[in-house]
Amino acid sequence: MIWTSRTFVILASLACASVAVPTTSSCTFPRCDVSSAVIETDGSTLPAPKYTPSFVGLGVGTQNYTCASTGTYTNVGALAELFDISCLYGEPGFDELTSTVSLFWNAAPPVITPAEIIAFGEKFDLSFVLGEHYFVVNPVTGSGLNPKWDFTSHAFAGNPNAYVVGSKVDDVPAPTGSSDIDWLYLTNLTGSLANEIYRIETKGGQPPASCTPGSNNITVKYTSLYWFTGGAF
Ligand SMILES: *[C@@H]1O[C@H](CO)[C@@H](O)[C@H](O)[C@H]1NC(C)=O
Ligand SMILES: *[C@@H]1O[C@H](CO)[C@@H](O)[C@H](O)[C@H]1NC(C)=O
Ligand SMILES: *[C@@H]1O[C@H](CO)[C@@H](O)[C@H](O)[C@H]1NC(C)=O
Repeated sequence: MIWTSRTFVILASLACASVAVPTTSSCTFPRCDVSSAVIETDGSTLPAPKYTPSFVGLGVGTQNYTCASTGTYTNVGALAELFDISCLYGEPGFDELTSTVSLFWNAAPPVITPAEIIAFGEKFDLSFVLGEHYFVVNPVTGSGLNPKWDFTSHAFAGNPNAYVVGSKVDDVPAPTGSSDIDWLYLTNLTGSLANEIYRIETKGGQPPASCTPGSNNITVKYTSLYWFTGGAF
């Protein structure tokens, strides 16, 4: 728990530092307006957004892989907590957030899992948590998995519509290097939380280059920025 707490204190202080006048002594975390923010996709060929930015989250979690018969890993999902970093936009260090936080995330012992981070967020009702990212069966075709971003537990608790299931439109290698998972552009397959989703500034998340068919599934830690545009929230 020490590591979990410390990671959260760091994240909390990062968020608190940008709040000039905390509204309460317990430091609640307002969401800042990012509608004029620029989603920096420099170095990639991802398309420009068609809608204005609505949310920006720092994703901390794992990518899941299974070993295919070809001896290489195939991605089979992910689980991540999304922290609201809207008030850090434009502050020094914003561009390095995924790198900074990945140092702590990678140093955390194996006992600290995304599920534990999520449980911690629920227990302490952390107001700087936006929600969770995980995979669900494609709600349109009923087969295959699609990524979902679900803000019904935190940012819009009690509103069952505060989610988006994404459909991948564009997938490019991370310009930051081959150990970072791809940058993505998705649009909403279902849900009105957002019209577009970007996964950029990724750190980590890539599996080993090869595997022995039949070996266990693995999870690989990653951090990422998730930008959401449009939407009805
Ligand atoms: C991915 O792994 C996590 C454990 O980190 C697990 O909770 C989750 O269900 C897995 N998701 C999929 C789609 O395999
Ligand atoms: C690995 O993950 C795949 C896809 O989620 C699943 O079908 C399979 O049962 C898992 N394999 C093991 C060994 O857990
Ligand atoms: C996508 O999100 C928008 C909200 O901005 C909504 O109007 C639209 O119905 C959503 N599309 C689907 C297929 O759910």
